[in-house]
Amino acid sequence: MRQAGRYLPEYRALRGDRDILETIRTPDEAVEITLQPLRRMPLDAAIVFSDIVVPLVAIGIAFRIETGRGPVLDEPIRSLRDVDRLRSLEPEVDEPYTLMAIRSLVRELEVPLIGFAGAPFTLASYLIEGGPSRDHATTKGLMFADPATWGALMGALVDVVVPHLRAQVEAGASALQVFDPWVGALAPAAYRANVLPHMRRLFDGIADLAVPTIHFGVGTSELLEPMREAGGDAIGVDHRIPLDRAWERLGHSTAIQGNLDPTVLLAPWDVVEREALDVLDRAGGRSGHVFNLGHGVLPETPVENLQRLVDLVHTRSERDG
Ligand code: CP3
Repeated sequence: MRQAGRYLPEYRALRGDRDILETIRTPDEAVEITLQPLRRMPLDAAIVFSDIVVPLVAIGIAFRIETGRGPVLDEPIRSLRDVDRLRSLEPEVDEPYTLMAIRSLVRELEVPLIGFAGAPFTLASYLIEGGPSRDHATTKGLMFADPATWGALMGALVDVVVPHLRAQVEAGASALQVFDPWVGALAPAAYRANVLPHMRRLFDGIADLAVPTIHFGVGTSELLEPMREAGGDAIGVDHRIPLDRAWERLGHSTAIQGNLDPTVLLAPWDVVEREALDVLDRAGGRSGHVFNLGHGVLPETPVENLQRLVDLVHTRSERDG
């Protein structure tokens, strides 16, 4: 996740101070930015350069992405009538640029390309709050107070996300990741009642594609079981739960992705090595562990630490079979 980004000088040089959505809409640049981390490190997969709000912008929702903040929307969606602004998505017509980028990437790449989408709860939070939020109070308030609007909004988002994911696989992506970084704001019962049915419909809508799917959340230690029930071949966990405990809760027949704390990479190498080995020890050499950070790479991360981390994980994984 956020494999590309500001920790790479060549990324900053290419992006300049232009709008990130403009860069995403320029396939040559999206291709180049997707490839940049792979030129620096022998990563096992690439993730296409796009953003979770792209399919919403593609259907006319006027998000902009502010540096240091994230997606911002001047006219938030808070009523049943507002939900009508979410028209259906025709990927080839509404967002051809991402599909063009994917098609040229799969010709060039020697590793699998991951396509992705934001999950309905996280997208709903940006739509309802009008921007990033610490407590998601307006979102959760609407969810509890106005189930009809909530259900309509979540349903409409599933109807946007499913074609968005399907089109990426049709263009050549060989795995899909669904990002739900803000869903950890919910209690398990609220997740089960208000999110799980929509997530299940989402995963049902891509089940026939025969590509592996990763279902990722942040702060979701208490939501692991309902997230697994909702779907995903692998569940992505952040660093707030030890990997072995998360895997026990999920059961070892579910694959797991995670979960080095991204801030560890700001420390000297011996600390990075110790913490990364701890994650690998907790995975216990089982197949079905996808080593990753618990959340995105921070802009201040030294590239050398990432390069050494990739080598360490490869060396250890080969040794342990
Ligand atoms: O790794 C990759 O390059 C894949 C492409 C990707 C981006 N965003 C590009 C991007 C992916 C997978 C995302 C996911 C994303 N975007 C999420 C879910 C995962 C997560 O990290 O929680 C969320 C919540 C967003 C929304 C978003 N877009 C935020 C919060 C920000 C950061 C704003 C900031 O300046 O702090 C963005 C901008 C963004 N999207 C960047 C990247 C590489 C940051 C660099 C830039 O602005 O040029």
